[in-house]
Amino acid sequence: MDQLISSIEALKNEISAFSVGSKEQLEAFRISFLGSKGSVKALMAEMKNIPADRKKEAGALLNDLKLFAEQTYDSMSQLIDGKQGGSEVSSVDVSLPGYPNALGGRHPIRIIENRIISIFNRLGFSVAEGPEIEDDYHNFSALNLPQDHPARDMQDTFYISKNPDWLLRTHTSSIQIREMEKSELPLRIICLGRVYRNETISARAHCFFHQMEGLYIAENVSFADLKQTLYFFVKEMFGEQVKVRFRPSYFPFTEPSAEMDISCRICEGKGCSVCKKTGWVEILGCGMVHPNVLENCGIDSKKYTGFAFGLGIERITMLHYQIKDLRYFSENDLRFLKQFVSS
Ligand code: DAH
Repeated sequence: MDQLISSIEALKNEISAFSVGSKEQLEAFRISFLGSKGSVKALMAEMKNIPADRKKEAGALLNDLKLFAEQTYDSMSQLIDGKQGGSEVSSVDVSLPGYPNALGGRHPIRIIENRIISIFNRLGFSVAEGPEIEDDYHNFSALNLPQDHPARDMQDTFYISKNPDWLLRTHTSSIQIREMEKSELPLRIICLGRVYRNETISARAHCFFHQMEGLYIAENVSFADLKQTLYFFVKEMFGEQVKVRFRPSYFPFTEPSAEMDISCRICEGKGCSVCKKTGWVEILGCGMVHPNVLENCGIDSKKYTGFAFGLGIERITMLHYQIKDLRYFSENDLRFLKQFVSS
C-alpha cells in the first residue's frame, strides 16, 4: 500500500511538471498518462495487490489521481486551442508589453532626513520618536521654561486646549525629555519630526516644519565632544571645504548655549541674498544640557552631563538643493517633487 501511495505522489509530480506547447505534445500527454496503456491505468491495475481492508482508501486515492490527470489535460487543451485561434482565450495577447507602474520618488525632506540619520548612526546615535500633540510640561516646563518664562514667546504656540494644556509641539526638544525620563543612561539619540508654530507663511517661514534634535548624556561629556560631533556632521553633510563657526547664544534648556553657522554654499562666503551678504548661514542651536533639565528628568546632574542640539531640516534641505522658497515643500506640485527621484 505504501508503495502505491508513493507511486501516486510521484505520478502527480510528473503530471504537474509536464509542459505542453503544441497539439502533438498534448496528445503525447494523453497517451502517456490517460491512454489505455498509460501510467494512470497501470497504477489502477495495482488494486488487485492491495489487501481487502485498504482497498477503499486506495480506490479513493487512485480516483483522485485520475481526476487530477483529466483536469490537467482539459486546461492544457484549452490553452492550446486558444493559442491556435478560435476560443476566447486568444483575445488576450500575453506577449504584449505590460503597462509600467509609475515609480514614486522620496520627498526632498525625507531624503535629507535619511542622510542625517545615516551620518549620526555612524557615530552611535539611534533614532527616537515622540508625539506631535504634547502637554505643556514636556514641551516647555521640563525644558526649564516655567509658566510666564519670557522665552516662551520665542515660539508662537498652537494650543489645542487650556487647563490641562495640550498643544502642537513647537520643537523636537520635547522628545529629549521623554527619552531622559526613561533613565537609561548613557543616552545617545537623534529625534526627528514635524513641529508647529503659529507663524505667517512666507518663503522663509511656515506654520509647520521639521526639526532634528540630538542628545548625548553620559559621564564626562564636554563641549569639545559637542563640537567634534557637529564638525563631523557638517563635513559629511556639506563636504570637507565647508567652514564652521560657533556664536554664543541663549536657550533656556542649555548652559552654555551656542548657535552654529556654516559658510554660505551659494556664494561660498562672498556674500549673497541667502546669507544676507554675511557669507555665513545659521544652521543650528546647541549647548550643554542645563542641570535643571537633567534633574527634572530624575538624572543626577553632578554625575552626568550632556549636550543637545536642534536644527531645522528645511533649512538644511534648502541649502543642499539650493531651494529658495520653503512653501514648495508642502504644495505637492509634482513638477517640483519629480526632481528628487534619487535616494
Ligand atoms: N528647540 C530649539 C528651537 O526650536 C532648538 C534647539 C536649540 C534645540 C538648542 C536644542 C538646543 O537641543 O540645545 O529653536
